[in-house]
Amino acid sequence: MKYTHKGVIPLETKRLLLRPIHRDDAEAIFENWASDPETTRFMLWNCHRTIDDTHVWLDTLEKNASRPDCYDSWGIVLRNTGELIGSMGAFWRAGESDTMEFGYIISRKYWGNGYTTEAAREMIRFLRDEIGIRHFFACHAEKNPASGKVLVKLGMRETGAGIYRSFDGIRTFPSVEYRLDLSEDKRISYDPGA
Ligand SMILES: CC(C)(COP(=O)(O)OP(=O)(O)OC[C@H]1O[C@@H](n2cnc3c(N)ncnc32)[C@H](O)[C@@H]1OP(=O)(O)O)[C@@H](O)C(=O)NCCC(=O)NCCS
Repeated sequence: MKYTHKGVIPLETKRLLLRPIHRDDAEAIFENWASDPETTRFMLWNCHRTIDDTHVWLDTLEKNASRPDCYDSWGIVLRNTGELIGSMGAFWRAGESDTMEFGYIISRKYWGNGYTTEAAREMIRFLRDEIGIRHFFACHAEKNPASGKVLVKLGMRETGAGIYRSFDGIRTFPSVEYRLDLSEDKRISYDPGA
């Protein structure tokens, strides 16, 4: 499969700016979501205890930023205030060279406004229309139905049960898996305006 890679470039929706994350975003990331145990409960990474943990993550992003085939982090910014309220990204799925897995996180004070759905819809549009990616995977912990709701609103289809572990292997989550196959599965249509 031939792709036209562009890396993480700025994107816009009606209410949001999606942009690369920078080193000087550390404080907003730490304060708005990364240090909140409830918001980070189902993430692969552990809740940040100090802003040093946030800097370690930013070091990784900085290293990856030079790779045009890397789409690991867009910051999600409210256009009307300029506030950085969350992040999302897509990753090449191990063992499936044509499939990207994606995830997202939003500051708790902004949950339930449709922001994640709006941001992820634009990310999928970009990855499909501008990069050429047709296959997407995502999953959510069984105990995190709000995330499942986002995936359904994105037009994904549930494919079964799974399990995932935090990066440190300590936390284990029974999960529900979803896929979006934009070229082959004619029953799934992706409507960016939906
Ligand atoms: C999951 C998460 C990203 C959703 O963000 P959001 O911006 O609130 O998402 P949206 O507003 O676009 O959609 C959320 C939907 O879930 C629904 N919802 C919220 N809590 C719910 C619950 N407990 N059970 C079922 N649905 C729920 C909302 O009503 C909304 O659906 P609606 O538009 O039909 O009303 C956010 O809660 C979050 O950041 N959680 C922590 C990080 C996380 O879990 N990330 C995903 C890892 S798999």
